[in-house]
Amino acid sequence: MKAILVTGGAGYIGSHVCKALKKAGFVPVTFDNLSHGHEWAIRWGPFVYGDLQNSEDLDKAFLEYQPEAVIHLAGSIHLRESIENPYKHYFNNVIGSLSLLKAMVKHNVLPLVFSSSAAVYAPPQYLPMDEKHPKDPINPYGKTKWMTEQLFEDFHIAHGIRPISLRYFNAAGADPDGEIGEAHIPETHLIPRLILAAQHPEETFTIYNDTLDTPDGTAIRDYIHVTDLAEAHVLALQWLEKNHPPEAFNLGTGKGYSVYEVLEKTREITNSPIKAIVENRDVAELPTLIADASKAKKELNWTPKYPELQQIIKTAWKWQSSPLLTI
Ligand SMILES: NC(=O)c1ccc[n+]([C@@H]2O[C@H](COP(=O)([O-])OP(=O)(O)OC[C@H]3O[C@@H](n4cnc5c(N)ncnc54)[C@H](O)[C@@H]3O)[C@@H](O)[C@H]2O)c1
Repeated sequence: MKAILVTGGAGYIGSHVCKALKKAGFVPVTFDNLSHGHEWAIRWGPFVYGDLQNSEDLDKAFLEYQPEAVIHLAGSIHLRESIENPYKHYFNNVIGSLSLLKAMVKHNVLPLVFSSSAAVYAPPQYLPMDEKHPKDPINPYGKTKWMTEQLFEDFHIAHGIRPISLRYFNAAGADPDGEIGEAHIPETHLIPRLILAAQHPEETFTIYNDTLDTPDGTAIRDYIHVTDLAEAHVLALQWLEKNHPPEAFNLGTGKGYSVYEVLEKTREITNSPIKAIVENRDVAELPTLIADASKAKKELNWTPKYPELQQIIKTAWKWQSSPLLTI
């Protein structure tokens, strides 16, 4: 069976990718420093405790498991933190990816699937956004993703690295079997924060901005189920066997929901009133991000199985109510 090295495999999306890889007949080898991941989330293959910056840790993983490809999810993910602490984000995301590339070249492992983001794009010039949309990230997090995509192109030319960048829109939801799900500390993502508010009625949910240029003033985002994202990684590996990278694919549903719409749907599903207040914060935020994912549908043969907001919130609610969730 083919081993695949999954950096960040103990994290939210990485653990779902490992489950999908195992189901497809691969051996997912998680490489993670557990800075934000969880040991309980590593259930479908071996674990190498290591850091992207440490070449000895990477050598150990490549030598011990002889992976045929790398799926690279490890990194720092908090957009607001990237504005306050750019050094951490550039170091972990850009220098960390460079270190991984060096190890891939050394061990002659060339296929690479990378967790990129809708944050690479410039403020929308048209919607939905396709992969050709101009890139000009508005925060350091997005810049680290765009710089990393560009690094890959140079390593492709110089060393034959075969990269695919998957530009996720907003990952959400949880494994429909209830085995894994989101458990970030701190939790900054909308749906798990709303569910936490539903579970703790004494607390008030804060909406960060209702002055954006959208019908109700709150940000409109394209929420994509994490299991659908995971499936796209397996399809990307298969695509790499027959096609010519570098290539980038958007992953989203093509439908956008405002914060108020997600709030209403969560109230309905959790049967909780969820008290909410608005506290306008002075952080640059794009009003609307919606994916045109037709390229992934056509070329990767990817079809989201959980495209409805209701399915996303229901699976997240089930997970956040589960005794398996310990953080
Ligand atoms: N969650 C989203 O909506 C979203 C959207 C677009 C892109 N992404 C990208 O997807 C990837 C996974 O996101 P996530 O939500 O699962 O995040 P996560 O924090 O749950 O997972 C990241 C994992 O990487 C590990 N890690 C971080 N730095 C490391 C290092 N130097 N060495 C080894 N391991 C390290 C962490 O311990 C964690 O397990 C990230 O690269 C993120 O930028 C996420």
